[in-house]
Amino acid sequence: MRLYSLLPHFTRWGRAAVLAGATLLLTGCDLNFWRMDGHQSTIVVNGPVARSQLDVFYTTVAVTMVIFVIVGSVLAYATLKFRAKSSEDEHAEPPEQGHGNPLIELSLIGASVMALVIIAIPTLKAIWFTYDVPAEEKANAYEVNATGLQWWFRFDYPNEQINGVGPLTTSNELVIPAGRPIRINLRSNDVIHSFWVPKLAGKVDMIPNRGNFIWLQADEPGYFWGQCAEYCGESHAVMRFRVIALGPREFNEWVGRQMEPARTVKDTGDQPKAQFASYRTDWKRNEKGYSGKFDLNPLDAWRAHQEPEKHENAALIAKGKELFQAKTCFSCHVIRGHMVGGSSAYPDLTHVGARTTIAAGLLENNPEQLARWITHPNEVKPGNKMYVNGYLANNIQLTPDDVSALVAYLSSLK
Ligand code: CUA
Repeated sequence: MRLYSLLPHFTRWGRAAVLAGATLLLTGCDLNFWRMDGHQSTIVVNGPVARSQLDVFYTTVAVTMVIFVIVGSVLAYATLKFRAKSSEDEHAEPPEQGHGNPLIELSLIGASVMALVIIAIPTLKAIWFTYDVPAEEKANAYEVNATGLQWWFRFDYPNEQINGVGPLTTSNELVIPAGRPIRINLRSNDVIHSFWVPKLAGKVDMIPNRGNFIWLQADEPGYFWGQCAEYCGESHAVMRFRVIALGPREFNEWVGRQMEPARTVKDTGDQPKAQFASYRTDWKRNEKGYSGKFDLNPLDAWRAHQEPEKHENAALIAKGKELFQAKTCFSCHVIRGHMVGGSSAYPDLTHVGARTTIAAGLLENNPEQLARWITHPNEVKPGNKMYVNGYLANNIQLTPDDVSALVAYLSSLK
């Protein structure tokens, strides 16, 4: 109301126009806003679980719209019909007052019960449907374990066991087969987190010491944005993740690549001599960490990202690998096949180069952002363990040359 009264010099229509213009300006000309198809839209959905929840939403909106129209029309009719039409009317005695009408009152109670029943039936159906994978689909379901940690997500694949190691593990990017129900066991290592991929399913909490689960399914291959939806500490807001759904053959190829140990880049002799790229160091705290490359055609961008770079600098990469050990990074992060060390309490980096994001889905995984992340971890994700238990505890200092070697090494781990 306050804001509205700041515009006293406009007529009623003028004010309306100003407000409409401001709304347009604030939303920009973002088509996705008008199509309600943002990255985390619950209106434009891609799977049966989210669709069933959307249907409940529309049913509720439809019922409440009917109530709104009926009550609104009666109110408008009464307001117009019985308003004072002249100055004499204003001083007239009030008309005869009614005191209750059993028929109207009973009808209103009946109508309210009806409205609740109309909403309750699809709601209960949706609760049963979204609770667990339907019985007839159970045999076709694919199982994944998701664990919330401050502040990132670990994904384990119990069906894909690596000899002598355990289940295939990845972090912050959950790759699933499209068209199949995915049953996700939800766990937490520390506090309560919440697993939410708005386009695929509603949110379910990840609770310490308590087994929880969710199921979801992607209709077709796609790239979906996810977010921790329960306040879990300092960097809760930047605890994000992605879900990448692939067709059956492409999914099996991905699993095959991930099961392999980390890749080693050989010096073929025709590669350029070691060059040290210099990276920006003047990042602002809230500066965006992505180029928009994954906005328009994210799945194709993901696919392109799986391929090794055309020109790789084997000498620089080898130096990065040495630094990864020398700077004690290996004592937290697993790089399977390259060095012994690490723990499941920290992200497995065996194939980190093939992920489209780093820092729990916050920054785009490109050399510049990788350099930003390893030089300013606490700026990007305040309070994170890499900074507190790693950089501070071990007094890790990186020169610009160290950074470019580490970036080259990590980027090569496709
Ligand atoms: Cu994890 Cu919020």
